[in-house]
Amino acid sequence: MPTVLITGANRGLGLEFARQYVADGWRVIATCREEKAAPGLADIDGDIGVHQLDITDHASIQALAKSLRKEPIDLLLNNAGVYGPRPVKLGGVDYAAWDDVMHVNTMSPLKVTECFLENVAASDLKKIISITSKMGSIADNEAGGSYIYRSSKAALNAVMKSLSVDLSPRGISVAMLHPGWVRTDMGGPSGLIDAEESVSGMRRVIDGLTLETSGRMLNYDGAEIPW
Ligand SMILES: NC(=O)c1ccc[n+]([C@@H]2O[C@H](COP(=O)([O-])OP(=O)(O)OC[C@H]3O[C@@H](n4cnc5c(N)ncnc54)[C@H](OP(=O)(O)O)[C@@H]3O)[C@@H](O)[C@H]2O)c1
Repeated sequence: MPTVLITGANRGLGLEFARQYVADGWRVIATCREEKAAPGLADIDGDIGVHQLDITDHASIQALAKSLRKEPIDLLLNNAGVYGPRPVKLGGVDYAAWDDVMHVNTMSPLKVTECFLENVAASDLKKIISITSKMGSIADNEAGGSYIYRSSKAALNAVMKSLSVDLSPRGISVAMLHPGWVRTDMGGPSGLIDAEESVSGMRRVIDGLTLETSGRMLNYDGAEIPW
């Protein structure tokens, strides 16, 4: 069965991805910042290994990649993310917090990808997915605000689009997925869908991803989202 590596797998969408892939018989490499703070992962029965990983800690990413260097990874799932301070008001922008959000949401997914690239290249499915947000779509931005989160996801999209072009000759497909507005800690209780529905939809989109459809931003129901 295929193998998936998930970042931020201890709660929210990452935990639901871990649950669903294990239930489907996949081998799951679940990573999270604090292994001890991951009771949801400990409750999952099946082929799952839990590893400590703060995605902003480059030495830690390199060390994990070294320890897993012989493992083909069919699907690399860059899921971990932060929203940052909210609300962000003009005149009160927290630039240090913006720096942190850019590290987590934009730079770290590329660093994780660099470190696990050969694992993906050695696999059968060869897929890299980054969980983005429609809030990173400039075309869709009619509400304004959210300077920090929007810019971090727009920049993630630019990075992942380049990656899709660069990795196409190696047979690796890349997509950016918007999970919908989901009832997680980040999405809050007013979200329109639950994690189960969001992840089931995203898994269908991931299944259908090919080299021909690589390099797009897609909604959890498969609809393309304009940049
Ligand atoms: N929920 C929504 O409506 C929504 C909409 C659009 C996009 N998204 C995106 O979906 C993804 C998952 O979000 P979610 O809703 O599941 O949010 P969540 O419930 O807040 O979970 C966020 C996850 O990211 C992890 N994380 C944050 N910083 C990290 C770091 N430096 N290293 C490793 N892990 C880190 C968290 O770990 P800790 O427990 O250690 O903090 C947690 O596991 C994010 O990329 C988010 O931007 C969500």
